[in-house]
Amino acid sequence: MRLDKFLVDCGLGSRSEVKKILKSKQVTVNGQVETSPKRQIDENADQIAVSGQVLQHENFVYYLLNKPKGVISATQDDRHRTVLDLLDETARLKEVFPVGRLDIDTHGLLLLTNNGPLAHALLSPKKHVDKLYQAKVAGIMTDQDVEKFHQGIELKDFNCQPADLELVEVDEKENSSLVRITIREGKFHQVKRMVAACGKEVTDLQRLRMGPLVLDENLKIGKFRRLTQEELMSLEAFGVEL
Ligand code: URA
Repeated sequence: MRLDKFLVDCGLGSRSEVKKILKSKQVTVNGQVETSPKRQIDENADQIAVSGQVLQHENFVYYLLNKPKGVISATQDDRHRTVLDLLDETARLKEVFPVGRLDIDTHGLLLLTNNGPLAHALLSPKKHVDKLYQAKVAGIMTDQDVEKFHQGIELKDFNCQPADLELVEVDEKENSSLVRITIREGKFHQVKRMVAACGKEVTDLQRLRMGPLVLDENLKIGKFRRLTQEELMSLEAFGVEL
């Protein structure tokens, strides 16, 4: 493959950023400085280094996105921007996709990867992966609602598994509540429908956690970053090749 593609794949930046790095003579191929983006390399045999650090070619990539409202959790859409539009060229080249869906008006943590088996494991109902949401609710959520969530709410088309509802703040004057909800499944509009089953309405929904992955407070809305080594290690528990 071309050297510039290899460097983009390794997350060094876009093609034009990589070109600049090459020009500044920081890249070596088997110990020799290389400045041409067109140089053909064998990613399995040649040793590529940047500022002396040897790079490994990645098959799989992992992105943590703080999804904003107004974008769709899909790879393509005729009418709306998708979460892929918020990522970089590498993500599109590597054909990443969102692991599960957030509604268009939900914001917060979304994992994107091209690792199919990992996505499958995280979404499998058998693995009971916790998803933690924070919801603003029109109406007062009560201890009875907490109990109802624990019992397992019955919706029209399915019975929810027991879920946790934590009352964070209840504002009687404003007739609103701030709650945290943990579910272990991911049915269509599940959180909104569970709250609606208690006679109240979600007015804002944010995902804070999915399994071991936590929404990074330093990640502004609409921004993404690669998973850290520690986060990747936390996914090893799912028993798939990373
Ligand atoms: N539950 C919902 O209702 N919407 C989401 O986006 C995620 C969970």
